[in-house]
Amino acid sequence: MNAPMDLRSRPALFASARACGKVILVGEHAVVHGQPALAAGLAGALELTATRTADANAPVRVTIPAWDLDVELRGDLEHPVARACSEVLAHCDGPLTGWHVTGTATIPARAGLGSSAALTVALARLVLGEQADRDEVIAASMVGERVFHGEPSGVDSAVAATGGVLRFVRGQAPEPIRVAAPLQLVVVPSEVPRSTADQVARVRRNVERWPTIARPMLDAIGAATDAFQDLLARGAHERMGELMDFAHHLLAALGVSSPILDELCHLARASGAAGAKLTGAGGGGCIIALPASDPAPVLAAFRARGLAPIVVEVQPC
Ligand code: MEV
Repeated sequence: MNAPMDLRSRPALFASARACGKVILVGEHAVVHGQPALAAGLAGALELTATRTADANAPVRVTIPAWDLDVELRGDLEHPVARACSEVLAHCDGPLTGWHVTGTATIPARAGLGSSAALTVALARLVLGEQADRDEVIAASMVGERVFHGEPSGVDSAVAATGGVLRFVRGQAPEPIRVAAPLQLVVVPSEVPRSTADQVARVRRNVERWPTIARPMLDAIGAATDAFQDLLARGAHERMGELMDFAHHLLAALGVSSPILDELCHLARASGAAGAKLTGAGGGGCIIALPASDPAPVLAAFRARGLAPIVVEVQPC
């Protein structure tokens, strides 16, 4: 018979931990293939709170009402969220029983705004602490991200752990970049869920089948990313919309847009945006639009379409 567990010897969690969501400004998908991406953190995206359960042997339970998520980390772990969470906890030597983790989220799940990276970063910080080494937290998050997305580049985990605006190149340390002036973007959830792993696989298939066509497109997205970074550093927003349009059309040619995302980008431009593109994996999820001046007409156009756009401001840094 097992000896009763001493409560004080149970591995503990911190009371709470936070992580950012993300908006990829430019460079998604190309970043999987070695090109740079620029991503902005969405502060306050997720806060997790941990409380001990009365039964020390009960599996850890994770509940995030805003994401309709309520899973127990049981042995079978059919549920990808349960599997990802238990792998992150195991990686960090955290507890797999005796805790209830609840979350408050301000971003939607599975919409291309970094919900899975926010979850895995915040969970790692519940074990390691808010002051834990950032690279350690990112490494733990990646263990969960691989369960969700196969072989992610790491951009989502980096920005979820760091915030600010990052230039990310796979295999290199994320680099905070200069933003000369506040940048207002309208983020529009299409309300169509999608799978990042499927979208990444679609691009990979196109690159493998048609390397001489697809590789130059990835290179062109990389060039748009470099040009966007230069405009951000100079506060020269007026040309950014053109780069966003280029990026969207290149992503569409690589196979990761969808009729609804194309239509939303078109609506953004027709209602006064200087440019618009899908953000994140595509196939569904969100688009971002850059209002030429006042965001009100862009917001009104999406609201009239029954959607719930939000304004995000990327701050100078
Ligand atoms: C997903 O947020 C971004 C992608 O580039 C995938 C990745 O970088 O792992 C589509």
